[in-house]
Amino acid sequence: MSTSKIDTLHGINPFDRLKYVFDYLNDDNYSFIIVTGDVSNSGDVESYHQFLEISKTISCKIIVIPGNHDNKENIKIFNNYENILLIEDGMNFEIDGWSFFHLNTIIDGKHHGRIKESDIEGFNKYKNSIDKFYNICIIMHHNPLAIGNLTDKYKIENFQDISHLFCGNVKLVIYGHVHNDHSFNEKGVIYTSCPSSSFQTRKMSIDTSVYGLKEYKLCGESVFLNSFLFT
Ligand SMILES: [Fe+2]
Repeated sequence: MSTSKIDTLHGINPFDRLKYVFDYLNDDNYSFIIVTGDVSNSGDVESYHQFLEISKTISCKIIVIPGNHDNKENIKIFNNYENILLIEDGMNFEIDGWSFFHLNTIIDGKHHGRIKESDIEGFNKYKNSIDKFYNICIIMHHNPLAIGNLTDKYKIENFQDISHLFCGNVKLVIYGHVHNDHSFNEKGVIYTSCPSSSFQTRKMSIDTSVYGLKEYKLCGESVFLNSFLFT
């Protein structure tokens, strides 16, 4: 696979690799695609144009969560495109008995995550207002806990302040940031990250040999996870 342009998307050979992932996704029938960030490496406008170029073949809605590398002003270019839903702090939407809530974990100018007091309050308010018949999926950029790899020092530094709220209707927590496929179950809640579409992080190194995606199938309260890696 060759690099056809100067990549400013996030990762290693990101343009060609993300294009391959999106072309793969387009062969199937998905309700929507979640891009958990980071989209850009430097936050420059050109990188968001590159993302738009790759995504124009996708027929379903693409939900984008900004990451710590993204520029919160430049990424707003996505608001001009109908097939992309740029998630802003505390945004939520419902599909097929599931309610998806975005929890902001970004602190301006920092690579690690932190959940602001106002976002904790916002989540609490949302959780108390949501119909008890909905299952809740929280989507966020940073990992709540260490997963045993290079990115551990950039996790959410105050997850303990909010972890007691991740219960009840909360069944699934999806995040990006860690460049790795990792899942665990904590008190009946599934916490899961997806393989990066550019490179993977390991315990002490970066693995550039594979890239991938993760498929989620939500059936009632059941969650099915399926990861794909490409070489
Ligand atoms: Fe990140």
